[in-house]
Amino acid sequence: MNKKSIRDIEAEGKRVLVRVDFNVPLNKTGKVSDDTRIRAALPTIRHLVEKGARVILASHLGRPKGTFDDRYSLKPVAHRLQDLLGQNVTLVEETVGDLPRKAISQMQDGEIVMLENVRFYPEEEKNDDRFARSLADLAEIFVNDAFGAAHRAHASTEGVARVIPGVAGFLMEKEIEFLGKALYNPDHPFVAIIGGAKVSDKIGVIGNLLGKVDTLIIGGGMANTFLRAKGLDLGKSLLEGDKVDLARELMEKATDAGVKILLPVDLVISRAADPEAERKVVPVDGVPEDWMALDIGPESSRIFGQAVREAKTVIWNGPMGVFEMEPFAQGTFSIARSLAESGAITIVGGGDSAAAVEKAGVAGRITHISTGGGASLEFLEGKKLPGLAVLQDK
Ligand code: 3PG
Repeated sequence: MNKKSIRDIEAEGKRVLVRVDFNVPLNKTGKVSDDTRIRAALPTIRHLVEKGARVILASHLGRPKGTFDDRYSLKPVAHRLQDLLGQNVTLVEETVGDLPRKAISQMQDGEIVMLENVRFYPEEEKNDDRFARSLADLAEIFVNDAFGAAHRAHASTEGVARVIPGVAGFLMEKEIEFLGKALYNPDHPFVAIIGGAKVSDKIGVIGNLLGKVDTLIIGGGMANTFLRAKGLDLGKSLLEGDKVDLARELMEKATDAGVKILLPVDLVISRAADPEAERKVVPVDGVPEDWMALDIGPESSRIFGQAVREAKTVIWNGPMGVFEMEPFAQGTFSIARSLAESGAITIVGGGDSAAAVEKAGVAGRITHISTGGGASLEFLEGKKLPGLAVLQDK
């Protein structure tokens, strides 16, 4: 990575504003139900604490629309972080102004405060200059460890680093190194597996990957649109009719680029997206009129799995079916297992695929599971991430 990181700064005694992505799910009782993103930021926080910095954490949580809303308070996040670190984490109930200024002025080296949700202020998402300056006023150095929010040009991810020097945290660095190596310097054969419901969400990624991969595997609801472009009838299956031509163009582009495209050859179908409904496995040309595809079939899993096992680099983004429902999860889980069994560098991006490798019990055997959903997609699309671009060059 060509950006400076926390390795390159003198942190002792300094007020360091650390942007983290603690946008984590909360359960019905308001407790953190998945702390993966909090754990992922621990190396940066611990490093700064050990170096004697005064650590000021900033994050968003959810989309509270620029106003205080208790449901989006970072309170439960501060509690979880405190438990994980075994160190006091003080939540300041405002993000900018006198309250945080006072709390920070009383900090000792190695202490941690967390500012309340940056999205309680409408200026945050507008990347308002004055708001960014108010944040910057709180600290001498900015560390961006919020890879998951790096595609947002907001005051706490981008604007602030125009005022005080900004460097990358360890998580940001790790994400960029793994995703960047796969995208710009992969070991071949390089296989990408793209799934999920809609082609429209993944057009940019597919377009960019076509210049780089050897094999592109397409599964999930979006595969239906590609199968339709090949002239197949898919009954009631989810289909983006206005994207059929585009799917055809992408397949032609793949042929021109010498990229092999693998589509499902069989499907698990049902009359409804209902785990109790009757289901069967059919070849792709055998979907009856009032049935719908909800997962890839076993033969598709076998073919996809073989490509994955022969690869040296694999990127996976998006499930192969409605994996939240057990009867339609086998395709997605079998891809997860193939990644785990492959000797390749395996990279999983996007919340659904990350959840799938967890659920399949193979997360520990994946080289890198990205903490970014939208951010990892935009990175794979080849887009510049504003929260990274603004950081100091080496
Ligand atoms: C995410 O969960 O992908 C990030 O935290 C970004 O959240 P956002 O889509 O609300 O900006």
